[in-house]
Amino acid sequence: MNPLRSLILAAAGSDVIRRAVLATPGSKGLTERFVAGESCSDAVEAVRRLAADGLHATLDYLGEDVLEKAQAERTVQAYLRLLDQLHAQGLSGRAEVSVKLSATGLALDEKLAVDNAWRICAAAEQCGTTVTLDMEDHHATEATLRVLAELRHTWPSVGAVLQSALRRTEHDLAGLTGAGSRVRLCKGAYAAPAGIAFEDRHDVDLAYVRCANRLLAGEGYPMFATHDPRLIAVLGERIRWYGRAAGTYEYQLLHGVRPEEQRRLAGEGETVRVYVPYGEQWYGYLLRRLAERPANTAFFLRALASRS
Ligand code: FDA
Repeated sequence: MNPLRSLILAAAGSDVIRRAVLATPGSKGLTERFVAGESCSDAVEAVRRLAADGLHATLDYLGEDVLEKAQAERTVQAYLRLLDQLHAQGLSGRAEVSVKLSATGLALDEKLAVDNAWRICAAAEQCGTTVTLDMEDHHATEATLRVLAELRHTWPSVGAVLQSALRRTEHDLAGLTGAGSRVRLCKGAYAAPAGIAFEDRHDVDLAYVRCANRLLAGEGYPMFATHDPRLIAVLGERIRWYGRAAGTYEYQLLHGVRPEEQRRLAGEGETVRVYVPYGEQWYGYLLRRLAERPANTAFFLRALASRS
């Protein structure tokens, strides 16, 4: 992995760097680009705006690596409030929710995380929508897949996320291509050692295409999460080759990234879902977005320089 990218991802855990980033001019503008806002109503408004453009949403209440039970409970309450508001405002057909198990208490106790995720799944079903479990760093892969399998006994529509950067992913995919299985395929936003992840970006892309082929050949509902123009072109060709009709798969992109491409795909009749994070705990999410793109990292370097 590129050393600057590794440095930025490592900085997610540093309090000193956190304060520097928050104090750097421009941090508000950058955050506004990637994050819909801090409140539930900001998130609902973002869904309304996207819906007006023919786009769908998946909403992520920010806050990961929760280490207290009370904090995990606040996460659950935030999702319940959000689902309630989406339903009340007639928007639950346009938006589902993305949940990080570390925010529902995975680091504290797996059973707590399952019970909390369960309550969110139950509320989502009542509102006529679905839940996708985000995939976090490689330490959480095994537990996340275990929890996913457990939740799917009751809520078969719970979506999985697989990261093509991880060497294990093609193996994990095997159990996730059946009818009704919803799988978001992404490259992976977290740093991982070479034995666990591909080092070369080209290998990550090749693995992405291999996984996409298997998802398209299967009976499930693939959700292709990428902004990569080359991959989007390859996916279009593979979708045609497998004879997949529009509506049997979807594209997913992040809030604030390539919005013109989001609208172009929707204009061509594709289902496009935008990942919309909201909430006060936006710092870790912002750093992952900065790490993905050299043009964004200038901001991070300015923040570091201001501390030296
Ligand atoms: P790549 O990084 O090669 O970018 C291709 C092009 O897209 C760039 O050249 C640039 O034009 C544009 N671009 C990409 N990122 C940008 C950014 N931050 N700012 C500006 N332009 C940018 N990861 C994970 O580990 N677990 C998860 O659960 C998810 N969930 C998820 C949901 C959705 C809907 C998306 C789109 C992505 C994720 N990810 C994720 C993140 C994913 O793993 C990956 O880190 C990013 O999507 C960037 O990879 P790309 O495939 O876009 O390609």
